[in-house]
Amino acid sequence: MNCAVRATVRCALARGCVPYLIFEGYQGLVDGGDKIKKAGWDDVRGLMSLGGTVIGTARCLTFKTKEGRSKAALNLIKNGIDALVVVGGDGSLTGADLLRAEWKSLVDTLLKDNKITEEECEKYKNLTIVGMVGSIDNDMAATDLTIGANSSLHRICEALDSLVSTAISHQRCFVVEVMGRHCGWLGLMAAIAVGADWTFLPERPPPINTTEGEWEDEMCEILQTQRDKGNRKNIIVVCEGAIDRQLNPIKANYVKEVIEKRLGLDTRVTTLGHVQRGGAPSAYDRYLATIQSDEAIKAVLKSTPETPSPMIGIQQNKITTIPLMEAVSLTHSVSEAVSKKDFNKAMELRDPDFKD
Ligand code: F6P
Repeated sequence: MNCAVRATVRCALARGCVPYLIFEGYQGLVDGGDKIKKAGWDDVRGLMSLGGTVIGTARCLTFKTKEGRSKAALNLIKNGIDALVVVGGDGSLTGADLLRAEWKSLVDTLLKDNKITEEECEKYKNLTIVGMVGSIDNDMAATDLTIGANSSLHRICEALDSLVSTAISHQRCFVVEVMGRHCGWLGLMAAIAVGADWTFLPERPPPINTTEGEWEDEMCEILQTQRDKGNRKNIIVVCEGAIDRQLNPIKANYVKEVIEKRLGLDTRVTTLGHVQRGGAPSAYDRYLATIQSDEAIKAVLKSTPETPSPMIGIQQNKITTIPLMEAVSLTHSVSEAVSKKDFNKAMELRDPDFKD
């Protein structure tokens, strides 16, 4: 996120815009005052290697109300801001698009209430929104990768590598829970990257490719086969959103119990938690955030009142610009398909070329 902040400010300056930083996310937009500051080139120096976001972020309930959005609109106008670049997940991007959709009525009400002048009303009659997707979960449709996901994956791999060494020493089995909310991307990629024995994904509830038996049987068979081949450890990755075919959550502690009871293996559970969300960003994330920021500023400058708010993505290694709400609604359709157990549909929506 810091790389996006830095590059957005600098690309804006380079293209003749006047950038501002809004601190603490939408809360800062609603509060105004010293939460909205004009930004110069030097204000964003040294951010590339810092994890998280130095301008802060917050889940803001007030912004979900019309009153909150009206305060945000007033603060934007009073600071002379007519375009917002928002970096966030589908919730933040939907919120931004809603602000734009309501903009005219918010401005009219501010004028009626004498909070802005006729000139301000005319000058700020349109608001431009451009979205960039920042989330470790990589759960947004219509883009291959979200800002932060690659760094998080690196963090998970480092942690799994460490667990592998201690597991081998003690001939242990590790059941590792990773973040990702309802999306299994982090867990699946991490499992492939370290050669895990088994992974539980929200999108593919077990059993996989089996017509008989429960997943417990199949998993234990695989773990035992590895041991029989001389492997001194087992790694099982459980995504936090993993579910079984009845949509019940699969919990790491249950997996541990099964392994201990059936195979008698010394098993430990490790929940990686928020370490997955911090630390220095990967080189790829720095690059992605930087080139997407430049595209975001170009999109701001190209935007017209008629064009839908764009979202900057990446597909097949090319930076893309697609209508933000199209991406958000596709994301929701995927979640809906998963919640209806229509996993093939969910996969097809994510990747039209998908074959089971
Ligand atoms: O969306 C990012 C994420 O880290 C998810 O992977 C996780 O489920 C959630 O946020 C954790 O949220 P919190 O920091 O509020 O505990």
